[in-house]
Amino acid sequence: MDFKLTEEHIMIRDAARDFAKNELLPGVIERDEKQEFPKEQVKKMGELGFLGMMASPEYGGGGMDTISYILAMEEISKIDASASVVMSVNNSLVCWGIDTYGNEEQKKKYLSKLTTGEKLGAFCLSEPEAGSDATSQRTTAIDKGDHYLLNGTKNWITNGNSADYFLVIAQTDRDKKHKGINAFIVEKTWEGFEIGPKEDKMGIRGSDTHSLNFNDVKVPKENRIGEDGFGFKFAMKTLSGGRIGIAAQALGIASGAYELALDYSKQRKAFGTEICNHQAIAFKLADMYTSIQASRHLIMKAAWDKDQKENYDLSGAMAKDFASKTAMDVTTEAVQVHGGNGYVKEYHVERLMRDAKITQIYEGTSEIQKIVISRGILKK
Ligand code: CAA
Repeated sequence: MDFKLTEEHIMIRDAARDFAKNELLPGVIERDEKQEFPKEQVKKMGELGFLGMMASPEYGGGGMDTISYILAMEEISKIDASASVVMSVNNSLVCWGIDTYGNEEQKKKYLSKLTTGEKLGAFCLSEPEAGSDATSQRTTAIDKGDHYLLNGTKNWITNGNSADYFLVIAQTDRDKKHKGINAFIVEKTWEGFEIGPKEDKMGIRGSDTHSLNFNDVKVPKENRIGEDGFGFKFAMKTLSGGRIGIAAQALGIASGAYELALDYSKQRKAFGTEICNHQAIAFKLADMYTSIQASRHLIMKAAWDKDQKENYDLSGAMAKDFASKTAMDVTTEAVQVHGGNGYVKEYHVERLMRDAKITQIYEGTSEIQKIVISRGILKK
């Protein structure tokens, strides 16, 4: 067992830290206020290789391990969780999904553009009546011989208006239930594809969340991923890795808030001394630091499982459940340590607290993670 990072890991972490401080920090408060997508910053993330970190080098990816990706996700999430969700969806859902299960043609045509950030990806599973209950897909993809006809609505789609390529999960044969579900690569410009209204969100307000409508969209057969009926397994397998990325996002939000609270507590004076010298504050810092370190260990173990080709459904779900709760607890306490200033936008912690909440909801709510965890334990 070795808890040390390699020199390469440290280099990647430091590069992500510098990028976040230099490119994401300026304007992060304004982007949150105006719900502005970090377009220029995402373009730079692509140029620096942050959008296809784990993907195969022959398709423009970085060929890196999951640990490297986790380290970069944490650093970027400390500063701007709206940018890090773009990174997470593109890396661990879209690029990983196509790289692992797509065919040669799909990889050449789509993956090579997604890894470099030339094009952006979105993952479309959730529907108005199929959020946690993901097998209840109402969107249909009817087999018409050389193509499928896609009809339906998808909800809460990250990168909804900014993406070019969409992984869409849809029901082909309802009688077969989840075994009749397929996954497709759909292009934004195809006829019948409409981007719905943008959601006005509590947090990650710079990220671009939309509903999507498909009205008789013709999807060529060659755009189906895997064998007929593989779509639900594809979504589940892809989400298992995605959850490690969101856990790292939660870790970054928590550690960003903790670092701000620690600095503030060393400067702010009350009752004649810096507030970190009061046990009431020092104990909060102790609890924050402990739960952050526990989250980090769970996440690194899940990433290690994935890199070692071990099963990571259970370890990824535990990491996401614990880290997202930690993000909520730590950001709430960080606001408390800042007192009145914590409630004010310029101190950043109120935004981190709002951003933290989504990590308990997307890519499987905390309740869904507990289903996965309990089933995993009982199967052992
Ligand atoms: N890997 C491979 N196969 C899996 C799997 C996994 N991790 N999990 C389930 N499956 C398979 C099962 O083996 C089963 O197949 P068989 O019948 O062939 O054995 C099939 O999938 C159905 O599984 P279940 O019977 O367990 O299905 P269920 O209805 O009980 O649901 C669930 C399982 C875990 C609750 C699932 O519905 C789920 O994960 N729900 C949450 C959905 C979710 O995470 N949505 C996030 C949206 S994406 C997003 O948020 C992105 C973003 O914008 C940031």
